[in-house]
Amino acid sequence: MGLVTAAVKTIQLRKIYPAPSSKRSPGGKSTAASAGAGAKRPGMVALEGLDLEIAEGELFGLLGPNGAGKTTTIGILTTRVRPTSGNAVVAGADVTRDAVLVRRRIGVVPQRPNPDRNLNARENLVFHAAYFGIPLRTANARARALLEKLGIADKGESKVDQLSGGQQQRLMLARALIHQPEILFLDEPTVGLDPHGRLAVWEVLRLGDRLGIVDHGKLLAVDSPDKLKARAPGGTLIQLSLDGEASAVVPLAGALPGVSRAEANNATLLAYSDRGGELIPALIRAAEQSGRTVKDIHLSPPSLETLFISMTGRKLD
Ligand SMILES: Nc1ncnc2c1ncn2[C@@H]1O[C@H](COP(=O)(O)OP(=O)(O)OP(=O)(O)O)[C@@H](O)[C@H]1O
Ligand SMILES: [Mg+2]
Repeated sequence: MGLVTAAVKTIQLRKIYPAPSSKRSPGGKSTAASAGAGAKRPGMVALEGLDLEIAEGELFGLLGPNGAGKTTTIGILTTRVRPTSGNAVVAGADVTRDAVLVRRRIGVVPQRPNPDRNLNARENLVFHAAYFGIPLRTANARARALLEKLGIADKGESKVDQLSGGQQQRLMLARALIHQPEILFLDEPTVGLDPHGRLAVWEVLRLGDRLGIVDHGKLLAVDSPDKLKARAPGGTLIQLSLDGEASAVVPLAGALPGVSRAEANNATLLAYSDRGGELIPALIRAAEQSGRTVKDIHLSPPSLETLFISMTGRKLD
């Protein structure tokens, strides 16, 4: 082969959802029409020229606040949403021209479980497999194994409505995997799951190799979780437990080069360091010069959460 093929490649992907069709006014004119002849109704720009390349075998995660465009991206890549412009190739097939081929090669776990509620859990899996031409025997064997792996083996014969929300989500993961897809798309796979459920899902998946941070339909950063964390502002948080009120140390600590912020919380001094733990000796000196003794030191590495907040101004849920 010699060629490294991308599992997913998008070029300048844009999605503009049409604005909700405006009510006709008594005069019979829509609001758009009254804006001027030929004027287009402004749409909702959900994706703004997204370029993304995900390698084969890579686990890629997209982070972003509500409304950032994550589900829209997945929608296009899984052939559920038509792009307004741009291209996307998934598992070697074009999402608009070869949608059937794409569907065969991918599995999708939607943001909201959408099982067939007339069927029981096992039937949901077997019917889905049948859609892809998998023989019944094989489908049943795979269904049993997947239900087992995801901790819902005892729910196979239950109607879907008798499964809890989290159990339905697990069922969606089983359904996405039963035709053994090359690529798996998961939209918020662990939201709504209990810690056990999260673990079960991540055990099936393994943690992400690369993450993209998206907001307002634009990709703001793509890198490994560690590299992204290292880019978090405010740097490492160093907490010093002192033998007395920490506010006495704040002026000296805050003036140290490399300390972006220092604050006191009773007997704990919190210092944000741009240089990781390197500043610990200087901080200890500052404490001592301020008449305090350091009893304990705690380092918190920069987190994805801090980076996310700094880039999008919003909290990661
Ligand atoms: N069917 C639709 N019609 C019109 N606008 C839509 C539609 N689907 C999404 N949008 C808009 O597109 C933008 C992106 O939505 P999208 O669902 O892709 O975000 P998201 O990142 O998945 O958010 P969340 O974290 O809430 O799931 C939002 O502003 C949303 O209001
Ligand atoms: Mg979404």
